[in-house]
Amino acid sequence: MKKPWGGRFKDDTSGEVEAFTSSISFDARLAPYDIGGSIAHAKTLERAGLISKEEANDLISELERIAKEIGKEKFRFKNALEDVHMNIEAALIKRLGEDVGGLIHTARSRNDQVAVDTRLFVKMEARRAIDLLKEIRITIIDLADKNIEVVMPGYTHLQRAQPILLSHHLLAYWEMFHRDSLRFKNVLTAADVMPLGSGALAGVPYRLDREYTAKLLGFSRISTNSVDAVSDRDYILDYLASASIAMMHLSRLAEELVLFSSAEYGFVTLPDRYATGSSIMPQKKNPDVPELVRGKTGRVIGNLVSLLTTMKGLPLAYMRDMQEDKEALFDAVDTLNASLSIMEGLLSAVRFNGDKMKEALTGGFITATDAADYLVRKGVSFREAHGIVGKIVADAESRGKTLFDLSVSDWREFSPRFDDDIIDAVKVESSISSRNIVGGTARERVVETIKTLRKLEKGKE
Ligand code: ARG
Repeated sequence: MKKPWGGRFKDDTSGEVEAFTSSISFDARLAPYDIGGSIAHAKTLERAGLISKEEANDLISELERIAKEIGKEKFRFKNALEDVHMNIEAALIKRLGEDVGGLIHTARSRNDQVAVDTRLFVKMEARRAIDLLKEIRITIIDLADKNIEVVMPGYTHLQRAQPILLSHHLLAYWEMFHRDSLRFKNVLTAADVMPLGSGALAGVPYRLDREYTAKLLGFSRISTNSVDAVSDRDYILDYLASASIAMMHLSRLAEELVLFSSAEYGFVTLPDRYATGSSIMPQKKNPDVPELVRGKTGRVIGNLVSLLTTMKGLPLAYMRDMQEDKEALFDAVDTLNASLSIMEGLLSAVRFNGDKMKEALTGGFITATDAADYLVRKGVSFREAHGIVGKIVADAESRGKTLFDLSVSDWREFSPRFDDDIIDAVKVESSISSRNIVGGTARERVVETIKTLRKLEKGKE
């Protein structure tokens, strides 16, 4: 097969080299963006007087026809034509003849072409991530609202620490997914630069109206250094980094669902529709969905590390190594989108077992901090109060008692500052309602937060 770059070659490319260098098996996915870029380029060439109106129209209608064929899977991509750019250009030449089809690559290189394609793709996927993140955040707000009565132990070191509202715990994920959205907005800005006109690396020797191309393609800025424009992959790395962080957040949530749905916790029941069984143990209902979300997080982080590693030793400008950016990007996009979507579905169907969570609050010393804070209110320094309550805990524990079993005289044995009201002060409800501070778990605060967040989600992104 004749290559678009075949002029200086006498021998055919070895089949092994064709197979090794070809990217069409994965970059065919960029075809809609490649065609969009070519249409804008044809219009820009016409505007610059480099091709006639008729030639531009012929190129554009043929490009549109090719796009339709690709959409219907009627276009045959060929390995020997290496990549999506040359497959489409070769089709144009075959159909329109070299005198017209051959015009499209005027003032252009595959180096700025692949940059425009991937930038358009990343912009689109950053927007999608922002939308999916919003959906999962709204589901989290709904869950928090629905479960406002439920109290649970908050943990540090996976040890019961202080009582909190389940809603407060859930809304922590709202914060994470909100920050993720902000990160994807930055990705959008990073990718929003139009590189065409950079050519292979030095810029092109034609007066193209690059602002016009940018406008046609929906970019807000044009690149200002052609060497950078063809060798920059930061916007892909930004996507991968943001996707990795979002997956890490999803993974922590997934891990909690796995943990909390075990019999040992029993805090949450996964819906049948989102669980799977065991081929041998008839009783099993396994949390495979959150497990896989947690597992797939490794892939996305791997994709980030993979591209960082590819890029770190490359001199300027374009190098073929960069072709390796695409599989990492596509895999991350597919994994992130699927994970966000399935976790949203799962979350909207989980059931929390309030009784089990309450039970986990009663067995020990979860409000010990409140006893110390009680003494602080009576004028004892926090450090001294901590020591006194520590002794009370140790003593109760040795007598097989919990904090809730102690009488006022039990308390007073350790400090005369304890009065009758210590009994109420160490109740779970008092502990929670006392944390009435911005960002705290008091019900009033959480209810207020839910209201604020609902309003925020209704506003424009
Ligand atoms: N398939 C190539 C890539 O993805 C397109 C750019 C090729 N440029 C080149 N000079 N060989 O990076």
